[in-house]
Amino acid sequence: MRVFLTGGAGYIGSHTLLEVLSEAHEVCVYDDFSNSAPEALARVEQLTNRKFLAVTGNILDQMLVAKALVEFQPDVVVHFAGKKAVGESVAKPLMYYENNVVGTLSLLRGMEAAGCRRIVFSSSATVYGNPQYLPLDENHPLSATNPYGQTKLMVEHILRDWCATQLDASAVLLRYFNPVGAHDSGKIGEDPHDIPNNLMPFVSQVAVGRRKKLQVFGGDYNTSDGTGVRDYIHVVDLAKAHAAAISFAETHTGCEAINVGTGQGASVLDVVAAFEAASGRSVPNEMVERRPGDVAACYADASKAQNLLGWQATRDLADMCKTAWKWQSQNPNGYQG
Ligand code: UD1
Repeated sequence: MRVFLTGGAGYIGSHTLLEVLSEAHEVCVYDDFSNSAPEALARVEQLTNRKFLAVTGNILDQMLVAKALVEFQPDVVVHFAGKKAVGESVAKPLMYYENNVVGTLSLLRGMEAAGCRRIVFSSSATVYGNPQYLPLDENHPLSATNPYGQTKLMVEHILRDWCATQLDASAVLLRYFNPVGAHDSGKIGEDPHDIPNNLMPFVSQVAVGRRKKLQVFGGDYNTSDGTGVRDYIHVVDLAKAHAAAISFAETHTGCEAINVGTGQGASVLDVVAAFEAASGRSVPNEMVERRPGDVAACYADASKAQNLLGWQATRDLADMCKTAWKWQSQNPNGYQG
């Protein structure tokens, strides 16, 4: 198949690119490198020994994205391009609505011009809001507690409506839980441009000595050890879920939302302990107040992914930490060298 990846140089995009190339698909990456590095693409090319097209462009540039789509004639688009920092979305909501929502409309217009009616979208478990029950299945009520979450919900609605107008359209909404880890080679991984907001990149940077200590946001939750519980999913497993979703979209029509998680919860202290074991380094930490907007626990019912996509996670927390550490220790300053 011909696969068009928006945001294909980013953290999840680059791992999916590698997976999709290894399945012999033809690929075009469309990325503006606002939160990614061209070096990630060069490394994927080395690792796979495969060539692919890369267009430098912003998703809001409707003329350029349409031109790239019309020229490439994809069978399916995988849409990663978007902003993802919750705190920043609260401070700059218009930027988030513009990039994530208007950007998707721009992409869909381009897809219509190119006659492409299949899309796999990077959604998030954030669309479940504060969990009313666990594990979270896809029928759990949807809500959002911040602009970032609102944009994921809005795009889900847009894709559902878009799909309903065309009999042969397919939209797969992949609701990611907490993606972590890196490729086994240690050549590609997560490279946050600013101070990391998420747990695993912060822990990695503490272990490598780039930051002094981790703040554990809350030790008084109603969980096994009092710290927040999440469903961490290895980014390579997540990339394989995209490959499975691409195959699914080839033969299925309509709109499906699918959780991508392991179904297992791990606490902040579980992650710290697993990371210390994997790295042989200590991760100094201190307990501080809860972070506003955080929930106590969040983990997936991942059975729909298994039933519809034939996919399930295979890698455990030890493997997530081992690969995150390999990436971090080989690339202490990320792609900057
Ligand atoms: C966060 C976002 C979520 C988004 C996801 C994208 C919030 C409230 N939620 O999820 O909407 O889809 O990132 O990746 O921002 N923690 C610490 N210390 C830290 C960082 C995190 O203790 O320095 C704790 C958190 O309180 C939480 C767990 O680690 O219990 C995981 O946090 P994080 O990696 O930020 O993910 P989420 O909050 O689940």
